[in-house]
Amino acid sequence: MENDIDRVLWTEEEISRRVSELASEISGDLGRTSSPTVIVGVATGALLFLADIVRKIDLPVIVDFVRVESYGSGTESSGSPRITSDVKIDVSGKHVVVIEDIVDTGNTVSCLISHFKSKGAHSISVCTFLDKPARRRVSVELVGEGKFYRGFEVRHLRQDHMKQSLYPKILECPDYFVVGYGMDYAEVYRNLPYVSVLKPEKYT
Ligand code: PRP
Ligand code: MN
Ligand code: MG
Repeated sequence: MENDIDRVLWTEEEISRRVSELASEISGDLGRTSSPTVIVGVATGALLFLADIVRKIDLPVIVDFVRVESYGSGTESSGSPRITSDVKIDVSGKHVVVIEDIVDTGNTVSCLISHFKSKGAHSISVCTFLDKPARRRVSVELVGEGKFYRGFEVRHLRQDHMKQSLYPKILECPDYFVVGYGMDYAEVYRNLPYVSVLKPEKYT
């Protein structure tokens, strides 16, 4: 599997540090309120991020899942995500924090926000490990005192990546498509513990 990787963008250590920071932010924000908090992981992509962040959130939260699919097996969002499995918890009157691996066009989280809003959530936040704001097609409208938490942004390349001449390489990849830490290409590579870019020849 490692032979398919062009370059690692965020290592396990960098991920772990950032996840701790996000968890303390969320714990601080939601610890001040009395309504219960439901942490909703979006299957399948959020699996690793969800498992990591809930262990670092210092609050008695409820954890649940939804399944939303928009990419199928390709690299392009279909633009019409479908909720194929709903939460089992009644989110009415509760703070909902949607946990995502990546927010790209915004279609998936927007669809979930309207869904939980219609179910009467008290507030809706989004916590995404990666954010690609340059690709946004729908603006993410949070609910109540909900916040948008992001681990890293993938629009600007980091200085050290520029030094390593990653920039020209990335331009050869279809829009800097990243895999690992839950993110897939054709359903594979989710179990890589770091975030990386696939070798261009791996895209078919
Ligand atoms: C990916 C990713 C997000 C969504 C982001 O999921 O995990 O959920 O796409 O894209 P968007 O902002 O353009 O909607 P995908 O639909 O590929 O399903 P998966 O999580 O099972 O891989
Ligand atoms: Mn997903
Ligand atoms: Mg996917």
